[in-house]
Order: sequence, then C-alpha cells, then structure tokens
Amino acid sequence: MDSKTDDDLTPGQPVTNESIDQLLVLGRQELLKVVDLEELEQWRLRYLGRSGALTIALRGLSSLPVDQRRVIGAAGNTARKSLEELYDSTLNTLQESNSRMHFQRSIDVTMPGRQPSVGRLHPTIQIVREITQAFSSMGFQVVEGPEVEWDKYNFESLNIPQDHPARDMWDTLWVDQQDKDGRFSTLLRTHTSPMQARVMERTEPPIRVLVPGKCYRYEATDPTHEWHFYQIEGLAVDEGINFAHLKGTLYEFARRIFGRDRKIRFRCDYFPFVEPGVDVSVDCFKCDGAGCRVCAESGWIEIMGAGMVHPKVLERVGYDPKKYTGFAFGMGPERIAMLKYGIDDIRHFYTNDLRFLMQF
Ligand code: FA5
Repeated sequence: MDSKTDDDLTPGQPVTNESIDQLLVLGRQELLKVVDLEELEQWRLRYLGRSGALTIALRGLSSLPVDQRRVIGAAGNTARKSLEELYDSTLNTLQESNSRMHFQRSIDVTMPGRQPSVGRLHPTIQIVREITQAFSSMGFQVVEGPEVEWDKYNFESLNIPQDHPARDMWDTLWVDQQDKDGRFSTLLRTHTSPMQARVMERTEPPIRVLVPGKCYRYEATDPTHEWHFYQIEGLAVDEGINFAHLKGTLYEFARRIFGRDRKIRFRCDYFPFVEPGVDVSVDCFKCDGAGCRVCAESGWIEIMGAGMVHPKVLERVGYDPKKYTGFAFGMGPERIAMLKYGIDDIRHFYTNDLRFLMQF
C-alpha cells in the first residue's frame, strides 16, 4: 500500500472541503486494494486511527473561523462515517471468506461419507397401501372423500336421521357453524361410510370401491382407541350380491394380510345402514386368544364392521333395492397393523416417537 495520504495531509496544513474530498477518494481507492485483515487494520490506522489522516485533518478544524468550521466540520463527519461504513463491510467480507477457507481446509476428502438420513412412509400409510393392493387385485377401485363432511352424508344418507339414538355410536366433533335452522350441519367425519352415498349418487352399478381416509371421534384414548385414526371403507353393489360374497371377500382379504394361521370371527352387530350387520375380529396376537390388556381380556381384536347395504340407503340414492343389493365394510388399518406387527398400543402411531416409526 502506498503512503500518499501521509504526504498529502501533513499535520498543520489548513483543512478544506477539497482536502477532505481528496482524502475520501484516496481512502476508498486504497481500501479496494486491501486483501487481508492485516492490511485492513493498517488502513484503519492510517485513516481512522488516533493519528490517522482524517482524524488529524478534523483536529485542524479548531483553528478555522466559526462559519467555515461548521461547514467543513459537517463534510468531515460525513467523510468519516462513509469510511467507517466501508471499513465495516470490508471487515465482514474478509472474515466470511476467512471462515469459508478454514472450513474448506478442515474437510478431509479421504474420510468415508456420512449416511444421509432418508425419510420413509408412516406405518399407517404402509398398511393402507398393503390393504388397498389386496382389494385392488380383487377388482376394487380406490377413491377418496372429504374429511370435513356434511351431516347429510355422515348420518342421514346412512339411515341415521336427526335425533336418532344410533348417533351416539359415533362421538362426533362438530364444526362450530350453524345452518339456517340453527343446527350444526358440518362435522369431522366419524367414519368413511359417508362415501357410500357420495359414490352411489354419481355412479350406476356395478360398483366396487375402496375408500381409505382419516376419521375423527370425540373419545377417550386407550390401547385400541385413538381420537383420530384411519378407516378403509369397502362397497360393492350389483344385481345378485349376497352375504356369501361379503364373507368370501373378507376371508380372502384376511388370508392375504394375516396368512392362513390367524382366526377370523364374524358376529352379529348393529349398524343402521346395513342389514344384517356384523363385526369382524381377529384372534389377539399378544395372548393368542387367552385374554390380555391389549384385547381387553376378550381374546379378540375387532378390526371392522360390515354388512349388507340397507335397502333404505339404496333407495335414498335412487337405486331400486329389488334389483340391486350390496355389501359394505369399514375397517381400522391401525388395528390391522397392530395385529400384523405385534404393536400393543395404538397411541404409538401418532406420538411421533422416531424409535417406533423407524422400525417400519
Ligand atoms: C364404523 O365406523 C362403520 N362405519 C363401519 C361399517 C362400514 C359398518 C360399512 C358396516 C358397513 P365402527 O365404529 O365399529 O364402525 O368402526 C369400524 C372400525 O374402525 C373398527 O372395527 C376399528 O377397527 C376402527 N375404529 C373405530 N373406532 C376407532 C378408534 N377410536 N381408534 C382406532 N380405530 C377405530
């Protein structure tokens, strides 16, 4: 770096606007040539230090008449501020490039690389896919529906009118919004069954659909109950469909998912939208049917409700129940994953503990 400034602004020379401008220009030019922190510090001392050129020039203000002092003093302060800002930004740039160089020097290219952690599908999605594949190969088509649903589809189209006691079977989370009659008409769907009417409304038989999706219920949690969980709905409607078709389809599904060794149980059950209705259970993986905490001492874990579609449900969507019959089922994939993988508490699925999730 040259030392021109020292010669041009010797202490004792009268300070003028021109000499300050000249100092500013020289300072900028010299700063452009600075390449490291050491040179930058020298530059700072030469211009802004206690014996720096600008400091000395401004010290000479005291010998000027008051009117000149005010004008030249203001120009001097602006010049100082400008050089200080330039110094700060150059300092930042040099420090950043220093730390980058340090980082580059610290990379050892001979070290083995680090394994990047790769995401994976959630266990629920994995079992949902496995189940949908099993049914797809039996000719079922996969469709999806809304999680925020109308009362009309979640209950009424399923033969559960307003104020019907069967509504208590589903503890409902209502959306806080009333219709023109002051009733709550929007809810978080409590099951995937509302898709039965939605599909039938827009399609003519034959129908074979599968509806995976999330459901919500206002209920206390325990090893087999969550307040939000998945269901997979199945619906088949055509001429001549009977209960044997339902049983055959579900046995085939169970054989594909659990293998031949697990026992399947059908028991009569009541759902207002099927007649007859059943619940389907699989013997408990934990106690092999002897009874334990997981199966609430019953030896069985219920995985789905099912039955023959109620004639009133068919009528509501404009189908002739004398011509068409159908079966429907709604299963809980988390419960199926529990049986398949020996998971003893459904709440593990949604607490996001990586030690659990990484096992799948
Ligand atoms: C229903 O929700 C009916 N919609 C099923 C149905 C469809 C019946 C078509 C007839 C015809 P249910 O409430 O029993 O039924 O639930 C069906 C399945 O969802 C249960 O067997 C269970 O596997 C799962 N399930 C229900 N509640 C929960 C919950 N709180 N946590 C986790 N899984 C649940």
